[in-house]
Amino acid sequence: MNTAIKKIGVLTSGGDSPGMNAAIRAVVRACAYHSVECIGIYRGLQGLIEGDFKALGPRSVKNIINRGGTFLKSARSQEFMSKEGRQKAYGNLRSEAIDALVVIGGDGTFKGASVFNEEFNFPIIGLPGTIDNDINGTDYTIGYDTALNTVVEAIDKIRDTANSHNRLFLVEVMGRDAGDIALNAGIGAGAEEILIPEEDLGHHRLLESLKRSKQSGKTSSIIVVSEGDQIGKNIFELAQYIEENLKGYEVRVTVLGHIQRGGAPSCYDRVLASRLGVSAVDALLAGERNKMIGILHNKITSVPFSEALKGANKLDMELLRVADITSI
Ligand code: F6P
Repeated sequence: MNTAIKKIGVLTSGGDSPGMNAAIRAVVRACAYHSVECIGIYRGLQGLIEGDFKALGPRSVKNIINRGGTFLKSARSQEFMSKEGRQKAYGNLRSEAIDALVVIGGDGTFKGASVFNEEFNFPIIGLPGTIDNDINGTDYTIGYDTALNTVVEAIDKIRDTANSHNRLFLVEVMGRDAGDIALNAGIGAGAEEILIPEEDLGHHRLLESLKRSKQSGKTSSIIVVSEGDQIGKNIFELAQYIEENLKGYEVRVTVLGHIQRGGAPSCYDRVLASRLGVSAVDALLAGERNKMIGILHNKITSVPFSEALKGANKLDMELLRVADITSI
């Protein structure tokens, strides 16, 4: 155990995700368990620059495991991208005598944390908190499972009305450049087509596929469109294109937007967040730093920030085959 670490700061940064509260709670309580002080840093990396700190004890995180969002609040800090901003943040950590940080967020957060670590040699452990599931070195990110369930529930409702009116619905989901939400929620909700950034279906193939669906007796259809898909048309243009090229199709568009980021976390996300939070404190006390703690094959694991950020998405392309077969 690294006895040099007596005070740990915890923050949430970037887009919020359901389960972040559960992760903060686990960090705070793991600190209490190890008799380490814990400081909550409000508004992410921006709050670090502004010294927006508050001591957190085990009772200050009661009744939050079930709540969506993040009670520490979150921000995307431009100022932290500058050396000056990071210098201010370091000054605040020193004057508050904080020895190490747990940062909960996505790739933007890890990029910032990694640079900060290089500049100041400051111990940081990251936890993957984003609905997008677009981080390498972990099978799941905190909030992804809840977002999937939110999307599936919404599409189930859309299906009712689509079916009543024999309509085709295009449903846009989040995920930035990653198709994980679209692909998994699309399979779970029984979508006819799923458009993701990792695979360009092309306009023509889409029309052909919709024609085949109609010929096979389908009266209504759901197409899930990832916000980052590469088809080259935004979702409203795509709706118009389909109506112009496929007679007899009445098309409607639903953009699910930020409802995907809210709501009570699923049990899976609560357990994942709790496991990762406890492991983050363990890792810091064991002298680890500049790493992200994740989960691979249901085992807690850690990878350097550089690995977590490696770009290429780990989407399971086998799922596309399943989507194709089950939507026949
Ligand atoms: O990274 C999470 C995410 O919700 C993405 O899916 C989406 O592209 C983006 O954040 C939206 O960001 P903002 O909340 O800043 O509009």
